[in-house]
Amino acid sequence: MTKKRLLSGIQPSGTIHIGNYFGAIKQFVDLQDSYEAFIFIADFHAMTTIQNKKELSNNILNVAMDYLACGLDPKNVHLFKQSDIPSVTELTWYFNCIITMPFLERATAYKDAYQKAKEINVGLFDYPVLMASDILIQDADIVPVGQDQRQHLEYARDIAIKFNNIYGETFKLPEALILKEVAIVPGIDGRKMSKSYKNTIPLFGTDEEIKKAVMSIVTDSKRPEDPKDPEECNIFTLHKLFLKGEELLSLKKRYKDGGLSYKESKEMLINEIINFISPMREKRIYYENHKDEVINILKEGASFVKNGITQKMDIIRNKIGVNI
Ligand code: ADP
Ligand code: TRP
Repeated sequence: MTKKRLLSGIQPSGTIHIGNYFGAIKQFVDLQDSYEAFIFIADFHAMTTIQNKKELSNNILNVAMDYLACGLDPKNVHLFKQSDIPSVTELTWYFNCIITMPFLERATAYKDAYQKAKEINVGLFDYPVLMASDILIQDADIVPVGQDQRQHLEYARDIAIKFNNIYGETFKLPEALILKEVAIVPGIDGRKMSKSYKNTIPLFGTDEEIKKAVMSIVTDSKRPEDPKDPEECNIFTLHKLFLKGEELLSLKKRYKDGGLSYKESKEMLINEIINFISPMREKRIYYENHKDEVINILKEGASFVKNGITQKMDIIRNKIGVNI
């Protein structure tokens, strides 16, 4: 039986954090054997916010090394960067010509950006369409992402339906895969952890960076001896990512009984994070010393993907009428 297709990507728009890992990358790693997996670096998307050559190219390489260090295995996964697949921008244009401005104006990411700065670049406005092209061009069945990407998946489905209605059945409707327990990992200020809020715990930070971030997690002002509701505490939400079974139950009890200070809870969390990432850190150091290997993996991934979509792009061009 042929495997279903899984596809997802992350923008190289900053340093990968614990929210990215649990919300997205961990799913990629866990599912890489069960699907035909395509994982990429969404560098065209990152250009909507980064217009600096050095920063962009460094970030691209960093995300590639992060993916590999986290356990994506190039034997299982086609790993590539989006900009090596120019057909996604061609397809984006075809989609742009069949959807409307009001349809895109409903996107929450666009509305938030517009609130902050009225002068939004066209790329940012068109972001969901480029993302739809990433997904639809490869006939992806499932797309593992965090909760914040749900609306983008709905855009991809709506765009596929519209294209299929106009030109005939062409695109499969993709499904989002969002795990409830890690859908929204909180940042140190209690909002969703996000590169753009500067409230992250970096996945591959130094011990010092991790300590600094964890020690600044915002809590209420309960004293050490006070009983605390673990479900109301951001530190506890993060413990849940690392502790399971008995260990988690016993921490929960210590919260409820009182006598556990937030400081102690934070120190425990720092240890959990450092222990958890240490094997991945070692792998990352390997790739930092073998960057050529990383670049080759991306090249091979891109060449496989390009081959795979040639026929589909031809069918699309036929349907549209630009092939004569
Ligand atoms: P950021 O908000 O930090 O810029 P991205 O938009 O690049 O993150 O997200 C990359 C992937 O990580 C997406 O699948 C996204 O849903 C997931 N993700 C990002 N932040 C979180 C979070 N705090 N909790 C769960 N998943 C997240
Ligand atoms: N928008 C996604 C994010 O910020 C990145 C992305 C771009 C993506 N294209 C995609 C994710 C296609 C899944 C599928 O995380």
